[in-house]
Amino acid sequence: MQVYEVGGAVRDWLLGQTVKDRDWVVVGATPEQMLAAGYRQVGADFPVFLHPETHEEYALARTERKSGHGYHGFEVHSAPDVTLEEDLKRRDLTVNAMARDAEGHLVDPFGGERDIADRVLRHVSPAFAEDPLRILRTARFAARLAPMGFEVAVETMTLMRSMVADGEVDHLVPERVWQETRRALHEARPRVFFEVLEACGALAVVMPEIASPEEVLEKGLAALVRAVGISEATEVRFGALVAPLDANTAQAFSERLRVPNSCRDIAVSSAALPRWPRPLSADWVEELLEKADAWRRPERFEQLLMVMEACGLDAQAAGRVREARSRAAAVDPQALMKEGYQGKALGEAIGARRQQAIEQVIEGEADHE
Ligand code: CTP
Repeated sequence: MQVYEVGGAVRDWLLGQTVKDRDWVVVGATPEQMLAAGYRQVGADFPVFLHPETHEEYALARTERKSGHGYHGFEVHSAPDVTLEEDLKRRDLTVNAMARDAEGHLVDPFGGERDIADRVLRHVSPAFAEDPLRILRTARFAARLAPMGFEVAVETMTLMRSMVADGEVDHLVPERVWQETRRALHEARPRVFFEVLEACGALAVVMPEIASPEEVLEKGLAALVRAVGISEATEVRFGALVAPLDANTAQAFSERLRVPNSCRDIAVSSAALPRWPRPLSADWVEELLEKADAWRRPERFEQLLMVMEACGLDAQAAGRVREARSRAAAVDPQALMKEGYQGKALGEAIGARRQQAIEQVIEGEADHE
């Protein structure tokens, strides 16, 4: 049997990037031989094994043929006579379809190395069209590699467009769409993910709420770009993307995509918050803090504030809101109780002191402007 390193690890090695997971393909072996050598089989559908010590994935060389619609329905054929080249041919992009043998020699039957040099994301074969998830993957790789100058090949974009026209993308399940979208939100240029999906027509199918009208998409993407510079949190990046939507649409979109509750919460809450006045007013800050439940949920409030910054609230103003929140939150009920307040009067006193603290920060500072 021969063992080759394949896929993302070979791509990242050629790109000079740190390799995270390493995947291997084994040619000329049977499952029985793998088990006898101490590998542990994982997954019932594919002949994939874990190495007894490194726990890296070793897959028997296989071919796949589509036998149904959508993501399911692949006939997998794996046997000792399946060649490395056949295995590489079923893969999505040429840059992902290279292998390295035990001596470190590159095996590159589909021109992946040349495409890396030319900065092109190109499909390996027409079999790309058998898996609509590959459209999302291609968009995600474009988002990751855009800073290095990579673009989707013209013929791959054409193929992706025809896949969309054939209704292939209609079969993608929300979980897969979100999984790729979440990962894309953390790539180097998340905006590019949505631009590639828009360019091939897939965005209108998988995320119609943000795909049109054009101003909604443009505003959302501009906010997303700013959010990337502000926060690593998925919630903030997602919240910025959907900020142009009204609360109902943000909610419907989040539910349809089955985004995590924390992301839905930020998206819906930020849509429902009052727009900031210029200059800031203490009344607005008070209303914001109440509506955003900032006393009980300061971390979430911080995320909402970062979404606002992504939508154009300037950093200095955001800093003042932060300061107002933390000074108001420092109002100490125990101290007020010692002063003799209790029951309803205590509640009112807390409110009044908080209001005072907010006014001092917002109006005090406004006087200096
Ligand atoms: N692959 C594919 N089609 C898919 C999923 C995966 O052709 N729908 C192939 C590609 O050759 C890919 C390899 O399987 O390189 C491993 O997939 P995965 O681990 O998901 O991606 P990586 O390329 O390793 O990328 P990442 O760095 O994002 O993990």
